[in-house]
Amino acid sequence: MCVDKIIAIRNLHVGFEETEVLKGINLDVTRGESIVIVGSSGCGKSVLLKTILGLIKPAEGEIYIFGKKTTSLSEKKMLEIRKKIGMVFQSSALFDSMSVWENVGFYYIYHTKIEEDKIKEKTLEILEDVGMKNFENFLPEQLSGGMKKRVSIARALISQPEILFYDEPTTGLDPITSENITNLIREMHARFKTTDITVTHDVKLASRISDRIALLENGTIQAMGSFAELKKKSKSPIILSFINRPGDQK
Ligand SMILES: Nc1ncnc2c1ncn2[C@@H]1O[C@H](COP(=O)(O)OP(=O)(O)OP(=O)(O)O)[C@@H](O)[C@H]1O
Ligand SMILES: [Mg+2]
Repeated sequence: MCVDKIIAIRNLHVGFEETEVLKGINLDVTRGESIVIVGSSGCGKSVLLKTILGLIKPAEGEIYIFGKKTTSLSEKKMLEIRKKIGMVFQSSALFDSMSVWENVGFYYIYHTKIEEDKIKEKTLEILEDVGMKNFENFLPEQLSGGMKKRVSIARALISQPEILFYDEPTTGLDPITSENITNLIREMHARFKTTDITVTHDVKLASRISDRIALLENGTIQAMGSFAELKKKSKSPIILSFINRPGDQK
């Protein structure tokens, strides 16, 4: 498998009981790329991310990450791969009873023997990177939605992942906060050279962060290309309705 292909998905089928959600997904992601996945609610975008992470077992097909076939790896080996993937969940998924810095350093506090002072130092650095300096002792309930998103981005970044998944990072945020989060995602991508896969319904975010956009519909990828290419070429009513939504600035 070509090393530039950080993720390769072949004929991926995923179902729950009687219903098949993903019906033969093929996708290659190049190292350093930013891919955006769009598609109507319930079409399987989050299921796709979770399957790549190894949290859902596919019925058929293969996934390769860093050239390794992860669909046949043991749970232990998969954990090693998952450590290199940061995930920003659809809900920010912060622990309510923990402070901001404990949320960001969670993995290191509870799963390693690294001294707390060192962990705190690292969390403060990353909190500064995401624009949350001086908020380390706040509790999640004291933060706005945008601030919570920043904290969950910091939590994903702290392990220096090579791949980052964002599941609807701007959903539920006002337009200005969405724009700030969009800028943060761009900045982090440029700075840490991550490979990003972002699921979103936000056209502005898609147009500003994507190298390529994949349209997921009826269980397969129906269109794939840059924002400009899809805008020019696509005849799919779904992609046109997505791309021509009000608020599109390009
Ligand atoms: N653990 C599960 N068990 C059974 N069905 C599931 C499970 N997870 C997801 N599904 C089903 O799979 C389908 C796709 O769900 P998914 O969460 O991937 O949608 P989505 O594209 O992310 O939608 P949204 O844009 O609303 O977040 C839905 O019909 C959902 O009910
Ligand atoms: Mg979802």
